[in-house]
Amino acid sequence: MADQDQRPAVELRRLVNGYQVSQCIYVAAALGIADLLADGPRSSDELAAAADADPRSLHRLLRALAAVGVLCEEDDRRFALTELGEAIRSDAPEGIAGWAAFVGRPSHWQAWGDLLHSVRTGENAFRHVHGTDVWSYRAERPEESEVFDRAMMTLTRSSNRAFVEAYDFGRFGTIVDVGGGNGALLALLLARYPALKGVLFDQPHVVAGAGEVLGAAGVAERCRVVSGSFFDGIPPGGDAYLLKAIIHDWEDAESRAILRECRAVVPDAGALLVIDRVLGPPNTDPAAKLSDLNMLVAAGGCERTLEEFESLFAEAGFRLVGATPTAAGLSVIEGAPD
Ligand SMILES: C[S@@+](CC[C@H](N)C(=O)[O-])C[C@H]1O[C@@H](n2cnc3c(N)ncnc32)[C@H](O)[C@@H]1O
Repeated sequence: MADQDQRPAVELRRLVNGYQVSQCIYVAAALGIADLLADGPRSSDELAAAADADPRSLHRLLRALAAVGVLCEEDDRRFALTELGEAIRSDAPEGIAGWAAFVGRPSHWQAWGDLLHSVRTGENAFRHVHGTDVWSYRAERPEESEVFDRAMMTLTRSSNRAFVEAYDFGRFGTIVDVGGGNGALLALLLARYPALKGVLFDQPHVVAGAGEVLGAAGVAERCRVVSGSFFDGIPPGGDAYLLKAIIHDWEDAESRAILRECRAVVPDAGALLVIDRVLGPPNTDPAAKLSDLNMLVAAGGCERTLEEFESLFAEAGFRLVGATPTAAGLSVIEGAPD
């Protein structure tokens, strides 16, 4: 890229303007541009016709994305996918198309636009902007729920190899995935371990999409799907209870309540497996520290240090067994009944 000026003010301006790149990638994902380029380069006019977009504006978007390396601009206003761009194809096995199509949506974008309110008051920005929490908002808006569930599914799929390479889930008989979304993680675990059984537990409108995901993985007959709220009881019968990207969605009081519901059903020799980021030392891991702010403005939770997880576990009747980092940046934080 041409813009290599390293002066602090220039570097800072790049960071300040990062929101522009994020919104450009969102628009490309929402229009399905990467899928339209799956078979090779196409002109911006062709893409505009296929995506039902304004030709001149789309060309401006595409050349900006080419300037930052997501696309490659060739002769005659033709564009191709780069390696980065390939990852926003909806069929890219480890791509993040669903996440890209979620982050720039007005509902999420507006919450981030209200970060100042959260920092001034400690309140959740999403609730301040939309008058309700993310889960109620999505429960009443099927399209928002579908886009979010797909976002979580692509995040899970993009990091699935990292989980199974780092941790042996095959030592369990039945894994209950608490708040397991539409089943993407269970589907991959059940496909990887043929003797494993699963129970998928999430809100009714979320598990409604699970049949397709579990069926496509060929594991539906080994997975029971249960709907409900994890504040009102969690299905018994597992020897491992998995909570991926759940505890970080909630402040301590709610997190304790969810973990206590888990404690009521985890057998004496069973395991609690929380998959979340573990906050590291100062000046490291921007992904975790920005995810923490994402929790502040969106879901209304926070990322935690290992010591904070240990305290939460203890308050819910679990002792911390250990934390296994994965290449995806999340750790498998294991607890056992105390
Ligand atoms: C950040 S998503 C994580 C989904 C999935 N575990 C993953 O990592 O892809 C949080 C999940 O918690 C679920 N959830 C929120 N409130 C819930 C409740 N009261 N009872 C059960 N599930 C809930 C949501 O529907 C959503 O699927």
